[in-house]
Amino acid sequence: MRAVVVRAPGETPVVADHPAPRPAPGRSVVRVSAAPVVPLDLLCASGTSYFGSPAVPYVPGVQGVGVVESSTTLPAGTRVWFATSAGMAPGDGSLAELCTVADDDLVPVTADVPDAALAALGLSAVAAWMSLTWRGGLQPGEHVLVLGAGGAVGQAAVGAARVLGAGRVVAVARSETSRDRALAAGADEALAPGTDVATLADRLAGATGGRLDLVVDPVFGAAATAASRVLSPGGRLVNLGGASGDVAEFSSAVLRSRSASMLGYTNNALTVEQRRAAVTTVAEHAAAGALAVAHEKVALGDAAGAWRRQATGDPGVRLVLTP
Ligand SMILES: NC(=O)c1ccc[n+]([C@@H]2O[C@H](COP(=O)([O-])OP(=O)(O)OC[C@H]3O[C@@H](n4cnc5c(N)ncnc54)[C@H](OP(=O)(O)O)[C@@H]3O)[C@@H](O)[C@H]2O)c1
Repeated sequence: MRAVVVRAPGETPVVADHPAPRPAPGRSVVRVSAAPVVPLDLLCASGTSYFGSPAVPYVPGVQGVGVVESSTTLPAGTRVWFATSAGMAPGDGSLAELCTVADDDLVPVTADVPDAALAALGLSAVAAWMSLTWRGGLQPGEHVLVLGAGGAVGQAAVGAARVLGAGRVVAVARSETSRDRALAAGADEALAPGTDVATLADRLAGATGGRLDLVVDPVFGAAATAASRVLSPGGRLVNLGGASGDVAEFSSAVLRSRSASMLGYTNNALTVEQRRAAVTTVAEHAAAGALAVAHEKVALGDAAGAWRRQATGDPGVRLVLTP
């Protein structure tokens, strides 16, 4: 079969012939229709992630959408979203024509949302949804701030906050295009981060209307520092990525004075049932037009270019391979 293959950690993968997966106990074979290239794929393939250096060669891709070809748990032809542990554990992932998937990692999807749109949402939207609900405990009427709102997690978080009844949703994103996208996703206001923490904190205080209950933060760094200063009593900041840096500064006085909570989030901590429920919910809201991530379909043969665009950290849209 044709597949994207990582031959050495840190190198851009190539599109090549690769052995097709075989049926195995507890695993199903899926014909892939759409699979996104996401930051986690690049991090794992770099060999610098906390999962260690991957065994090569391997097919990257931690998620996708497709149709079951053979399985002992689902009828052939069932449409599924699926996850893999490619790059985090030995084995091949989704950026290929066929993928073998642990039965527990298959989620049948009946919601009427196109394959590429669902693939673009995928684990980014699961992270956004679960950061707001399970980790962040969002209550209707609360005010939400989404940092890095131009990325896939950020776009999904803005839409999800709206779906969940947030009273006010403020977005921070670097480019004007991203800010327009955040407004289209349902943000009440979208700000540029700038470079100065104090200035951003002042602008956030104004934009959030003097109340900030929950921050969804995929970027960390200066923006997280500024957001912490604006939190209301009982406020929570859920960090799920470090796109702008691995370190942020939080003052003890700031945290104590408002009993603030700084929380970490990873999709890898979800149970199979939690992830399945989140994917199903996300797909339903996407079908209703309430959740979306801007994306571009890319032919499998152009995967190396898509990989390089994602490696800039600023791909503009989620790139979805359509094998
Ligand atoms: N913990 C989890 O389970 C989980 C799940 C999914 C993703 N993540 C992490 O969340 C982060 C965002 O993922 P994504 O899928 O949304 O990425 P993406 O779609 O590729 O978008 C890029 C994101 O990174 C931000 N960014 C990139 N370079 C930056 C810089 N120099 N300074 C500030 N911001 C920068 C962008 O901010 P702008 O909006 O300003 O452009 C945007 O939010 C990644 O670190 C990813 O690994 C974590």
